[in-house]
Amino acid sequence: MKSASMKSSLKAVLASVGVASLFLVACEKTDAVATPEAKPEAAKPVEAPKPPANESPTVVNAGTPPPGAPDPKIEADTIFSQRCSVCHGMSGKGDGPGAAALNPKPRDYNDAAWQKSVTDEYISKVIIEGGASVGKSPTMVANADLKTKPEVVKALVAKVRSFAVAAAPAPAPAPAPKK
Ligand code: HEC
Repeated sequence: MKSASMKSSLKAVLASVGVASLFLVACEKTDAVATPEAKPEAAKPVEAPKPPANESPTVVNAGTPPPGAPDPKIEADTIFSQRCSVCHGMSGKGDGPGAAALNPKPRDYNDAAWQKSVTDEYISKVIIEGGASVGKSPTMVANADLKTKPEVVKALVAKVRSFAVAAAPAPAPAPAPKK
């Protein structure tokens, strides 16, 4: 009984192997036919798309910052807290941790009279070229890397200006009665 069933299952295995090898042969034949068709595509020359040299592709999007471009205002805020606040203080009062060692000390940006006395161009120049460029202390360092980022400089000037604006709504002390 046992050997009989083994024999029959062996037959079944042999039969299926035979069928499988037939399939394999058939597949190999169709593969051989298909291969030459795929070749010409691979041989195609790869063309790199190149914009015309004298035509800027950004002109189309003029005025629209490319997606993912840093917001100049955010960049200015970051620069102020990372570089300027060391001397100028986070509130622009000139009381940063590095200011103690400075002579002259950075002035208080909250000073409305100073704000009125200087132009945005002057502030931009001091920021980019440093204090020495306007006859001030060279301890006010240049930020030459911002020369190519006028939007960030503009936002920094606005930040310097904002300290006075922020200070403005504070109620002025009532004039003391004259003695
Ligand atoms: C190493 C310290 C230091 C750092 C950092 C610094 N400053 Fe100054 N800054 C000074 C000093 C000191 C002065 C005052 C110079 C003087 O009065 O001669 C000054 C002056 C200025 C002035 C001119 C004010 C005036 O009195 O006319 C502006 C504007 C200014 N800083 C902006 C900035 C900005 C914006 C940054 C960051 C990008 C910055 N500073 C970083 C020290 C610093």
